[in-house]
Parts: sequence; structure tokens; C-alpha cells
Amino acid sequence: MVIIHRDHLHTQNPDVKKIIITIDGYSSCGKSTLAKQLAAKLNYLYIDSGAMYRAITLYFIQQRVEWNDSVQVKNALENISLEFIHNQISGQSDMFLNGENVEQMIREMLVAERVSEVAAIREVREFAVAQQQKMGAQKGIVMDGRDIGTVVFPHAELKIFMTADPAIRVERRFKELYAKNPNITLHEVKENLELRDYIDANREISPLRKAEDAIILDNSQLNLQEQLDLVMQWVEDAIMAHSS
Ligand code: CDP
Repeated sequence: MVIIHRDHLHTQNPDVKKIIITIDGYSSCGKSTLAKQLAAKLNYLYIDSGAMYRAITLYFIQQRVEWNDSVQVKNALENISLEFIHNQISGQSDMFLNGENVEQMIREMLVAERVSEVAAIREVREFAVAQQQKMGAQKGIVMDGRDIGTVVFPHAELKIFMTADPAIRVERRFKELYAKNPNITLHEVKENLELRDYIDANREISPLRKAEDAIILDNSQLNLQEQLDLVMQWVEDAIMAHSS
């Protein structure tokens, strides 16, 4: 048995196994902020699964795909190529749809208003989940979304289910969107989050659920550093448990 000290968990020591970390939860809980922090700290890959559903939705809108028609959906998916490409300036990954950087466009309300309908389609989910599973094949990944701990990586070593007070979530997302578009209203943002949460939690295929073995993280009263410190303890425990 190899004994690994906690201080050595973040080194390139080959005895330290890489794990899969899943973060699921409602809209605007801060999943991506936490996922990015963890990935940077652990030198892991970060994948924003929501960006993939947003990019597919953008394609459907642009190409006027009738998404109640499964033949149209299947044909459209055959023409979609999704890639995450590192952006030197922001240091983050941008979403590319068929070779075009759509990172800005997929965050707009036009996409947010439709994405949960598109993400509820069986063929769309199969298409996205297959790609997500490939990305995690080597482990050393943090992925956030709605079904990552339940469907994409049911055997992940650490699963987190994030929640936060709904009013705080609306406020956070409003600030984020208002910085880019001052015409946006708090009401509009609130309605969109409520509707998406409802559709995501009630759809037939892979609804948003806490995996039985997920740890709940309510970050309503935590600042970013407190949250990171807490989660790093869980990460260390999970790595220790899987490295011995
Ligand atoms: O960042 P935000 O909380 O607004 O959502 P997101 O992670 O960008 O995801 C956008 C939408 O994609 C969600 O509301 C879900 O409808 C869908 N989604 C999903 O169905 N499954 C995932 N694993 C990730 C996102």
C-alpha cells in the first residue's frame, strides 16, 4: 500500500490517482465558478456541459431546425461539431460550434430561453453525453451540469450537488447578464431561471437530480474562498480514498 501525505496530493506524483469530480445543480448556483477553481488548483480539465447544450440550441435556432421533428433533429446533429478551445487571453476554454467561436452568443437570452427544451430531447442528450464520457476517459476532469453525477459519470469519485437560495441565484445571474446587456430586467432573468429549473427537474430523460452519493453544497452564505477550502477537503478525502 502506498501512503500519500495530504501535502503531496497536488503534485505530479504518479501514485496520486486522478479522479472525476461532478458538480450538478440548479441554474446559477455558481457551479462553473467552483469547477474552474478546482480545475486550476488540481491541474484538471474543466468541462462546462451546459455550453454544449447551449451551442446545439444556437445551431437549431440559426438553422431553423424544427425540434419536435426527430428526423430534422437527427440530421442536424450529424452536422454539428463541438470543441472546447483554450483562449490565451481569458485563460478559459471557449465553445466552438463548427469551427466558430460562439462563447459569447451562447450566453445570450435568446439561447437561454430555448436551451432547456432542446436539452430535453433524447437524441440531443445521447449526442452530448457520448462526447462528455469520452472527455472523462482519462479522469482528471471536473464537469458541471445537471446529470453528470447521475448519468454521465455515475462512478465518479466525488459528486457535488450545489444549491443556493433562489433570490441569490437570480441576483447573481442578473448582475452577470446586466454587465453585458443593460436592457435586461431582473424579472426576465427570474422567469428564465424558474422555467429552466422546472423543465430541467421534470423532464423525462435524465432529469436534474441529486445522485444518492452526492454531497450537498449550499453556498448561499459562503464566500468563494470558504467554498473552495471546504470542497478541497472533500477532494483530498476522495483522492486519498482512491489512491491507497
Ligand atoms: O449556467 P446555467 O446555470 O445558466 O446553465 P448551463 O449550465 O449553461 O446549462 C444550460 C441548460 O442546459 C440547462 O438549463 C439545462 O437545460 C441544460 N443542461 C442539461 O440538460 N444537462 C447538462 N448536463 C447541462 C446543462
